[in-house]
Amino acid sequence: MEPLRFAENKLYLLDQRLLPARVDYVECADWRCVAGCISRMVVRGAPAIGAAAAYGMALAALEYGQESWPVFSAALEEAALGLKSTRPTAVNLSWAVDRMRAAAAGLAERAPREIAEQLAAEAERLARQDVDTNRRIGRFGAELVADGARILTHCNAGALATVGYGTALGTVRAAVEAGKKVHVFAGETRPYLQGARLTAWELLREQIPVTLLADNMAGFLMQQGKVDQVWVGADRIAANGDVANKIGTYSLAVLAAAHRLPFYVAAPFSTFDLTLQSGAEIPIEERCETELTHFAGIRVAPEGILCYNPSFDVTPAALITAIVTEYGVIHHPDAEKIRAFFREHEYVR
Ligand code: MRU
Repeated sequence: MEPLRFAENKLYLLDQRLLPARVDYVECADWRCVAGCISRMVVRGAPAIGAAAAYGMALAALEYGQESWPVFSAALEEAALGLKSTRPTAVNLSWAVDRMRAAAAGLAERAPREIAEQLAAEAERLARQDVDTNRRIGRFGAELVADGARILTHCNAGALATVGYGTALGTVRAAVEAGKKVHVFAGETRPYLQGARLTAWELLREQIPVTLLADNMAGFLMQQGKVDQVWVGADRIAANGDVANKIGTYSLAVLAAAHRLPFYVAAPFSTFDLTLQSGAEIPIEERCETELTHFAGIRVAPEGILCYNPSFDVTPAALITAIVTEYGVIHHPDAEKIRAFFREHEYVR
């Protein structure tokens, strides 16, 4: 399963809006198409939208590769702004766009056509690195998963949310590959149903045992002693370890704490935003009210009702047992540990 694929100067995006009913790809020949696909959730999940945006930058460069340097660089800037403005919460998006801008700036002496080719290669590198990063996260994560573990997850932090393998579901995959038996409980993730439509589909295809539940069933499941750990992904992690992730994540963290269950976050370094002191500074996307008032195109709430539809929430670091990254595990994260961890691995954004 490939959530995105680049071939002959076109980006093909698996249309996640149609899953699980249909497997179909949208073909993008320019960055505007990519930006539209990110906004409309054809592609979603923090690392996946980052990789898609990187390819979007490459497409902009290829489109304007015959132009003079001023026209070329202005077009790249327009694409960068356009791609970054599609979704506000996941920082992987601007991280990827900025990496592409830096690559272009480093080649400023060359002809635009040559830069365009190099940017296509850079996007490809970024995408391949994402899969490698996820496998590394998975290896660290799997050490925290006991044989027989019953894992509750939320949203989709799997292969579909990345270039492949996944972060939270990458850990599940790595545990299975290590010979452990696991059972996943997938919260359906109202209102967009990433859990029901995507996580359930992804795990079923690989015959990893999975049970679907509505979001409001998680507490009862825990109370009955049927969950051992919670694993989620992240869209942005502040310098103090507060984590923005799909709406409902915070409720699960509170429930996990009440039931003394470990609550794990799996995320690459590109999801950290050390420019933000705490989660309170993370911009939270609000989505349209029809996601609440309609279900599969049918109105389920009265006309004229006021709606509130934040797409993400923030889980305070104090509720997080550990953040699992491609460089290792940050136990009980806080500002000091995160700073030290980044320094140790000499990560420069
Ligand atoms: O709105 P979405 O579907 O893009 O939200 C996705 C999530 O919240 C994921 O949990 C997060 O991006 C991590 S994906 C590895």
